[in-house]
Amino acid sequence: MNPASLDPVPGDPRIAVLASGTGTNLQALLDDPFAGSRVALVVSDRSRAVALERARGRDVPAVFLDPAEFRGRERYGDALLALLHEHAIDVVVMAGFMRILSAEVVRAFDGRMLNVHPSLLPAFPGAHAVADALVWGAKVTGVTVHLVDEEVDHGPIVFQEALEILPGDDWDSLEARVHQVEHRLLPRALRALVEGRIRVEGRRVEVLADEAARGASR
Ligand code: GRF
Repeated sequence: MNPASLDPVPGDPRIAVLASGTGTNLQALLDDPFAGSRVALVVSDRSRAVALERARGRDVPAVFLDPAEFRGRERYGDALLALLHEHAIDVVVMAGFMRILSAEVVRAFDGRMLNVHPSLLPAFPGAHAVADALVWGAKVTGVTVHLVDEEVDHGPIVFQEALEILPGDDWDSLEARVHQVEHRLLPRALRALVEGRIRVEGRRVEVLADEAARGASR
């Protein structure tokens, strides 16, 4: 991760969303006034990912990149990188993409790639964060949106928001509240990134207020 402030993405940035599943976070981005028109590609590693249908429903190119066609993470990464370049992608969002990216992909989008994770990292990394928090008996969990680095669920944290785990919660009820928070934080983080309002110093991230907020406080 390059230190200091990330430059705004010049021009009208083209955003790719990587998603393996239902794609409610993709939907939140498609519905967002800022991000919606800039989503230029959706890639999934699952042929039946609902995310692909959501993209096609908005006439956004949707590509199933079949892991079975590539031997190993590096080769899959090469194919993904070629696809991202082919579509002139500037910024990548991992929105429930259940595959570890190759180092080359991560390096190519250093400071230009976000991931959304359903826990307060570094608690409960991995693919089952909501269930893991419930099983652990945690009283609080939440959502993390972070820049992607070469370690899984690890990069500098852009936004985090806590959620109380209630006595009667099960996976469905907790996941629903997690999703609500994700759908709010991810578009905000993406916009801040694109507008160059994210400052990174080591692991610490400062998100500068947008023009409207600055104007209001003057
Ligand atoms: C989200 O909870 C995200 O944090 C996790 O996978 C889930 C994807 O949900 N990485 P959806 O496909 O966006 O509905």
